[in-house]
Amino acid sequence: MRLPEGEWLVLEEVSSTQDIAAELLSQGERMPSVILALHQTAGKGRLGRTWLSPRGGSLAASIPFAGYADHPRPWLIGMALAAAAAGALHCQVRWPNDLTVGGKKLGGILTELLPGPGGTLVPVVGIGVNLGQIDFPPELDAIATTLASHIGQQANPEETLGAILLRAEGMPEPVSWQDIEPVWRLFDDTAGKRYRTPAGDEAVALGIGSEGELIASLGGESVSIRAAEAIFGPT
Ligand code: BTN
Repeated sequence: MRLPEGEWLVLEEVSSTQDIAAELLSQGERMPSVILALHQTAGKGRLGRTWLSPRGGSLAASIPFAGYADHPRPWLIGMALAAAAAGALHCQVRWPNDLTVGGKKLGGILTELLPGPGGTLVPVVGIGVNLGQIDFPPELDAIATTLASHIGQQANPEETLGAILLRAEGMPEPVSWQDIEPVWRLFDDTAGKRYRTPAGDEAVALGIGSEGELIASLGGESVSIRAAEAIFGPT
């Protein structure tokens, strides 16, 4: 896949790297290729959740894919990055783009379409990875994990992102799901997991369909949940 070119913007503390990307895009500034923060005070997760990014304990970065502005299937960009991250971090990936180890969440990806030059919509992919030294609140303790406990050593945010982007460079162009699927399949941890449908029902994942959508079983029927709904849907 084509990664943005240019300098990395490394910041000490921000509300959210996604907000910085939105601000720079709206000002028509020359965009950095990566916005990385050592600490986020209001990190954003998918579906309106908050994302913890303590200093020294996490990788928090946003990548503005201006080269994929107005992409017809923007969810594939986040899914391609997730598959690349799974390869780099030796972890698994769970639809639409959670990074997991032994079923616990190691990281996640948030894709937002943000207004860019000339009225275009730029996919900005935010990636968060729990590196280590995170005091998870009790409700997250059972379901979250860190790279330090996975690989047995403390990793550095810049190096970790560098390794992920190197893998991403080798990913095929995310034109269709079929481009990403062969790599995704190597790391897939989706089948059998429980998902809430946009209507609020609980379904069990069967696999991923031809457009990158989730195919799940709900009361014996097979239903599909579009990645676009899950990624950009109501929060
Ligand atoms: C998820 O809910 O799994 C997605 C988490 C995405 C978190 C990253 S951290 C860097 C970027 N900035 C944010 O505010 N969120 C994303």
